[in-house]
Amino acid sequence: MTLTAESPIHTSPDAAIAVRCTGIEKSFSAGETKVRVLRGTDFVAESGKMNFLVGPSGCGKTTLISVIGAILSCEAGELQVLGHDLRSMRNGRLADFRLTNLGFIFQQFNLLPALNAEENASLPLVARGEATSKAEKIARALLERLGLEGQTKKMPAQLSGGQQQRVAIARALVHQPRLLICDEPTASLDASSGHTVMELLRDVALEGDRSVIVVTHDNRIFEFADRISHMADGQITRTESPDQGRQP
Ligand SMILES: Nc1ncnc2c1ncn2[C@@H]1O[C@H](COP(=O)(O)OP(=O)(O)O)[C@@H](O)[C@H]1O
Ligand SMILES: [Mg+2]
Repeated sequence: MTLTAESPIHTSPDAAIAVRCTGIEKSFSAGETKVRVLRGTDFVAESGKMNFLVGPSGCGKTTLISVIGAILSCEAGELQVLGHDLRSMRNGRLADFRLTNLGFIFQQFNLLPALNAEENASLPLVARGEATSKAEKIARALLERLGLEGQTKKMPAQLSGGQQQRVAIARALVHQPRLLICDEPTASLDASSGHTVMELLRDVALEGDRSVIVVTHDNRIFEFADRISHMADGQITRTESPDQGRQP
């Protein structure tokens, strides 16, 4: 997990653009047939913004962000993430890139049930070689900032859905990634918890020169978008920048 030699992995030559996908092709094999999910997909996420990706179920949103997050490989196209050409990056370096620069939040939280809140939230730091006690201290401070003071030793099963999602947010942000990718982050939450979670994402995730991609079809949270890309049948059909973006 060394990040030495080669060029620093943090630099971005095109600072205004966090992600630029051009002509991405991705198919899945289902038995004899091949399903072409991403069909020459073009997508841009701007730096320092809440970039929403919206569209009907099955249109390819999760597939696209999995390609952007280097979880899935694609068959064709160009993929620039934080100024790096991910398609030409070696596997080991790709893993380092992901650990250093990316954070993920999933619909189902994906917390480890046998670990308490601060242990869960500290995992990305531990994975990067930080000492456990220091990692948990950093995680605890972030959890407290997210409104979980007094709850940090609790197990996931002892927390509400909204509290579990905050632990997942802390885990995604604890290593200060430059790009946060959220897949349906409010889908398991009621309207009020969903609103709180989006406020936290907007206020905490965008600090510094960070960027956020939110996949959602929850139109209750569209008010948090700086930029909305609409997806249908594996392609971006329209992008808009609503006026009611973030307050200064
Ligand atoms: N691992 C996979 N194997 C086969 N088909 C898949 C796989 N992942 C997704 N798909 C298919 O790709 C299409 C798009 O899926 P997905 O990206 O999850 O859509 P969305 O997130 O917009 O709901 C769907 O038809 C889905 O069934
Ligand atoms: Mg999905």
